[in-house]
Amino acid sequence: ITWNTQKRYRPYEQWSTEYKKELLHSVAQSQWRLNYHIQPVTGLLNDPNGFSYFNDQWHLFYQAYPFGAVHGVKSWYHLVSDNLIDWQELGLALQPDSKYDSHGVYSGSAFPLGEQLLLTYTGNVRDQEWERHSYQLGALMDTNNEITKISTPFIPSPPVGYTQEFRDPQIFKYEEKYVMLIGAQNTKQEGQILTYISDDLKEWQFIGPLSFTDKKMGFMIECPNLVFYKGRPILLFCPQGLDKNICHYDNIYPNMYVVAEKFDLATNTLVGASSLKNLDEGFDVYATQAFNAPDGRALAISWIGLPEIEYPTDQEGWAHCLSLVKELHLIGDVLFQQPIQESKKLQTTPMQKLKGTSFTESFDLHTNSYEAKLTFTKDAKGTITLFHDPIKNNGLTISFDSKHGKMKVDRNHSEHPFASAFGSQREFEITKQPLNLQIFVDSSVVEIFINQGEQTLTARYFPEKSATALTVMTDKNWQGTLFPLRSMK
Ligand code: FRU
Repeated sequence: ITWNTQKRYRPYEQWSTEYKKELLHSVAQSQWRLNYHIQPVTGLLNDPNGFSYFNDQWHLFYQAYPFGAVHGVKSWYHLVSDNLIDWQELGLALQPDSKYDSHGVYSGSAFPLGEQLLLTYTGNVRDQEWERHSYQLGALMDTNNEITKISTPFIPSPPVGYTQEFRDPQIFKYEEKYVMLIGAQNTKQEGQILTYISDDLKEWQFIGPLSFTDKKMGFMIECPNLVFYKGRPILLFCPQGLDKNICHYDNIYPNMYVVAEKFDLATNTLVGASSLKNLDEGFDVYATQAFNAPDGRALAISWIGLPEIEYPTDQEGWAHCLSLVKELHLIGDVLFQQPIQESKKLQTTPMQKLKGTSFTESFDLHTNSYEAKLTFTKDAKGTITLFHDPIKNNGLTISFDSKHGKMKVDRNHSEHPFASAFGSQREFEITKQPLNLQIFVDSSVVEIFINQGEQTLTARYFPEKSATALTVMTDKNWQGTLFPLRSMK
């Protein structure tokens, strides 16, 4: 299929049964389908949406275009879970079927209200001249997961001084008010986060751009999320076109965060906000969504994929996945992201104790679905190769030098390179201490938690089927544990 605008915006019901069957067949042939990560049935997945706990279950939606690996007209796809690990697919939920969302049900959030879950999202509309119009909309889901759209927009247009690049609402409650944050662009082409407040979730009052930096946040901010850890705010957001002197990044667009002392709603300010930091050191994290769960945890999940980048599975009719659910906490101004404790449910036997005394050790589980926990001494240097094909010497390599606090990841040695225009290496500093890595490998994705989650590194990598070895080369003794992981149930 050659994709053009007309095809990308074709009404869903016009795709033939025959075409859908072929697409399913094509996806089923893929050697890169994932075992325990959320992935699209067919077509393209992007941002996580509406992550919430409601009606005794975890709910999660994602941006979906089911008919090909392109950014076509989007819907929300719905999943539910009892344990944040095994997700049941419920199918398309919100679809682009009203005059306020005809060209896409874009990203947004969820907020439980007793027996109903309030969904807020952006309706994307293109007019005759193909000009964009953005509406901030609402819908209510009941305990049978039946959704009814609210017929009038919460916010029918951006405020004066802002363009129609205005989307991705997050609703939460703060000091007796409902707060809505929206990603925006002003008419000077600057990225901003706009704050609205409400007493009744019906009338929304604009109070201005959220104050958290004096720097220019690129030309647009997407997917803002404010969550709290012990009362302290953590702001996650995606500034597009950010000047690399403000905070260095290599990906086409970064997912960044700041932490602060306090959110002062009266002045719409993150008081004592830190400078910007990359949320992930790797290649593929974007549009992370977080919320404060009723059990007290701040939980986050990321889109593993980037806008405007082609991936090797596009040819197979599917693209992208979501990350594992991560728990956020702060130590000082440092954000830690850890795998949730439920991720242990994926572990199966036989668990293998690893010990390295020789310089090179290679392990082959004959599958790319495992968790490895590795610890190295504080003066060790070495290289870890995942998806290793020892004959061609292909694989994703992580080189580290604990003494000098350096790490480098390289995904250049691959039969299936992609996104090469943005570099195939990522280099960054790590804390000078005994290095601890918790690595989750799943078929064509890896998520690495460095030093108890002080940093994370996420990457897609597309190996040949036989490239299933994990190789560790180091100059000092080391230890580890290896668990084969089961598939999602
Ligand atoms: C981020 C994003 C959002 C938008 C959605 C559309 O990846 O561009 O800003 O709501 O994707 O799918």
